[in-house]
Amino acid sequence: ASHPLALPVGVTLDRYIMHRQTAFPYATGELSQLLRDIALAGKIIHREVNRAGLIDLTGGMGIQNVQGESQQKLDMIANIRFSRALKNGGEACAIISEEEEEIIYTGNNHAKYVVAMDPLDGSSNIDVNVSIGTIFSIYRRVTPIGTQPTMADFLQGGRRQVAAGYILYGSSTILVYSTGHNANGFTYDASLGEFILSHPDIQCPADGQIYSCNDGNLDDYEPGVQAYLSACRRKKYTARYIGSLVADFHRNLLKGGIYLYPPTKKNPDGKLRLLYEAFPLAFLAEMTGCVATTGQQSILDIKPDSFHQRTPLYIGSPVMVENLVGFLA
Ligand code: AHG
Ligand code: MN
Ligand code: MN
Ligand code: MN
Repeated sequence: ASHPLALPVGVTLDRYIMHRQTAFPYATGELSQLLRDIALAGKIIHREVNRAGLIDLTGGMGIQNVQGESQQKLDMIANIRFSRALKNGGEACAIISEEEEEIIYTGNNHAKYVVAMDPLDGSSNIDVNVSIGTIFSIYRRVTPIGTQPTMADFLQGGRRQVAAGYILYGSSTILVYSTGHNANGFTYDASLGEFILSHPDIQCPADGQIYSCNDGNLDDYEPGVQAYLSACRRKKYTARYIGSLVADFHRNLLKGGIYLYPPTKKNPDGKLRLLYEAFPLAFLAEMTGCVATTGQQSILDIKPDSFHQRTPLYIGSPVMVENLVGFLA
């Protein structure tokens, strides 16, 4: 019964990546190396996050990012650490980041891949010791190797992602990613400095009883969303909202649930960013049996036109998301 890709719980991420690569004889190893570079960045950010309270890494920078949000020190640190790991790793020719308006050129014009990232997700939770994350999305470039990458490399659409994932810095740190076959979770063992396969072939429960949204925005939500949330209350579902998308998604992925970030008066197109929040999680959703939609269309079908564009997001167990969509119709 051995699936060619199956490896037992407890193997290291490095071993797993190597095994996957030999299972695909045409793979040249660059994507494997890129994933290792991302894991390294994850370890570095894990370290920063875990000592943040000790060396004055909490609090704001006193400036705003391109989104008009006040940037936290760890937002900046994660952005720098992640960009540096990708530059030094050599497999990404360009990066876009929530924290920077324009493309970050790595100088590696011979590299094949581009990466879109949310270096630190859940900024509002940094100072209070609550789970935060990193989200990443990888494309094979469409511009010729050796030339300067362009916007077109990043605006291919979510279905063209070759890999995507997140790192959740929670009660433990876990890396969850997919290269388009299935999705696996690797828990970080800080004493070994290794990510260890702990959640092989993650599958989301088809139905669930957890709903996650910012209840304070309820009056802004469209009537269909309000009606759906009332139905959740009537059924005595459980409300759980951390305010870090990665953490909310991860919980619902494992336990069954739905995450909602509808349009509001403040954010009429939704709050979450398409390229480095919604697309990568929608890619993982597809690999794990979840559904991700704007209410009108599948997230992965959105044609992107700018780096920082936003989208409404409803994501989670298929029965719950389809039920919600019924209320919206
Ligand atoms: P980020 O910290 O990367 O800017 O993302 C914040 C996002 C997401 O993580 C979270 O789910 C959502 O904002 C929370 O928004 P509200 O505070 O409006 O509920
Ligand atoms: Mn932010
Ligand atoms: Mn975010
Ligand atoms: Mn962020």
